[in-house]
Amino acid sequence: MNSDELRSKYIEFFTQHGHTQIEGKSLLPENDPTVLFTTAGMHPLVPYLLGEPHPAGKRLVDYQKCIRTGDIDSVGDPSHLTFFEMLGNWSLGDYFKEDAIKMSFEFLISPKWLGIPLEKLGVTVFAGDENAPKDEESARVWKELGIPESRISYRPKEDNWWGPAGSTGPCGPDSEMFYDIGKEPCGPDCGPGCSCGKWLEIWNDVFMQYNKTEAGIYEPLARKCVDTGMGIERTVTILNGKKSVYDTEVFAPVIAAVTSAMNPGGYTYGEDADKDKSIRIICDHVRSSTFVLGDPKAVSPSNVGAGYVLRRLIRRAVRHGRKLGMESLIPAALAVVEKFSGPYPELAAGKASIVEELRREEEKFLETLQKGEHEFEKLLPNLLKDPKKTMSGRLAFKLYDTYGFPIELTDELAGENGMTVNRAEFDEAFKKHQELSRSQGGQVFKGGLADQGEMAVKYHTATHLLHRALRMVLGDHVAQKGSNITAERMRFDFSHPVPMTAEEIKRVQDIVNEQIGKDLPVTMEMMSLDQAKAAGAMALFGEKYESQVKVYTVGKSPADFFSKEVCGGPHVERTGTMGRFTIQKEQSSSAGIRRIRAALE
Ligand code: ALA
Repeated sequence: MNSDELRSKYIEFFTQHGHTQIEGKSLLPENDPTVLFTTAGMHPLVPYLLGEPHPAGKRLVDYQKCIRTGDIDSVGDPSHLTFFEMLGNWSLGDYFKEDAIKMSFEFLISPKWLGIPLEKLGVTVFAGDENAPKDEESARVWKELGIPESRISYRPKEDNWWGPAGSTGPCGPDSEMFYDIGKEPCGPDCGPGCSCGKWLEIWNDVFMQYNKTEAGIYEPLARKCVDTGMGIERTVTILNGKKSVYDTEVFAPVIAAVTSAMNPGGYTYGEDADKDKSIRIICDHVRSSTFVLGDPKAVSPSNVGAGYVLRRLIRRAVRHGRKLGMESLIPAALAVVEKFSGPYPELAAGKASIVEELRREEEKFLETLQKGEHEFEKLLPNLLKDPKKTMSGRLAFKLYDTYGFPIELTDELAGENGMTVNRAEFDEAFKKHQELSRSQGGQVFKGGLADQGEMAVKYHTATHLLHRALRMVLGDHVAQKGSNITAERMRFDFSHPVPMTAEEIKRVQDIVNEQIGKDLPVTMEMMSLDQAKAAGAMALFGEKYESQVKVYTVGKSPADFFSKEVCGGPHVERTGTMGRFTIQKEQSSSAGIRRIRAALE
């Protein structure tokens, strides 16, 4: 069964069981400062899980494109992915545990559907703790369906609980389904959920029955919901008896595009472990990047938020591509467009811009890389003499500072040569440099080499001033939709239904320059997102939610401020160092979204 068939069967099964198919949503969540990307099928449905009625009813089914970057450094092994597709079915106050588990079981086991042998299936259920009891009901239903006690594991919250990480909202115990790949158990305690590699998770049924409040209390939800998620790539892998997601038809055309772009051609995937690893990294990262660039809410590679992740994905793929002798990632991206345009027609529609954005980023990065790698190689003979095999953070910082060479890549190059980089020292040098460039003030460029880092920081602060000025002039409906910063200019996308008038543009520009002229201090405080909102901070899309967020304030004091935003930083220390702000262009970006290009000089 291939991925197209699996997708259709899943939708068909749940439609037959009274569910309405809904469209999957964008990979770039709107108005959600807590995550950079859509990370699960439930993510766009949170308001409905909390009680808002869904126009399509109480039983829903869909497939959703997702990106999770938490494991980005593990990509390259046979199982990790940054982009994946999730199949999901939901009950919004309709059926609960018993029916959800029975439907999951039927879809997995029945020969009419997936036909997985019963003895291959194992499950986990929640073991219980001080907040919620042991999930006896789920265990009972699984046993009644024929899963023996020996293949039911009881696991704690870390494993069998789903909810917004550490924050408030709908949550509850879950029951995960695993496929036994047939390996010997790793020990007497090895059971479903064990991470030894014997048990592959394919599906998760979440029983949302609590709302975690700000006070940390788990209060029962009046309307209980079910949220499930099945990973397409993994399920296709086990259904076809493959060992790795990369061995399935999902990746076959992308791998073929990569191997035929390798020079000299004729390489067959599977011949050489190192090359295969690079091929897997390229395939995964190009697939993620293509989906981000082909999304209706596409962002461009940049130095902040989702754009930064995109840049990292593309740049890491480029570097591995070069190792394999590939000239460009574009053929691989075209293979992704071709393979997935059936279920995701936005890819075919966005093909021209996917190609153009990739080409531009490849060019930019190649210049940076050539300089940085050349410098690293010059340093290498000396580095290898160090008995501790540690590269100093100061040197790594020099590569970053002088050549714009990303620290992640220095880390990787060092790793390939059996060394590690002293990251603590790098971070310290990085911080010092920021302080130094702030105290230098003015528009001083070092030695004629415009410091990219420093300019980017200035532009970053300019986005905050611009955002606030736009809201003052145009109204509170204005919200930032994206931004893109280089050392030379900034681009800022925001919601506003009509073109700005020349007069409005001038007023916005004047307000920004006035704030620069006041040489206002920029300060940072850490607080919870709720406190930030209470303090009047704007929370942008693209800010990854941590339990504590950084809030940057531009203004005389915490009470008398011009702008306050939740943001990862960094920012200038005083606005007087930024230079003069000029809006060069105001144009349409997409429906309801305007785009401003501006420069500091
Ligand atoms: N939201 C659940 C998950 O992603 C189904 O595992």
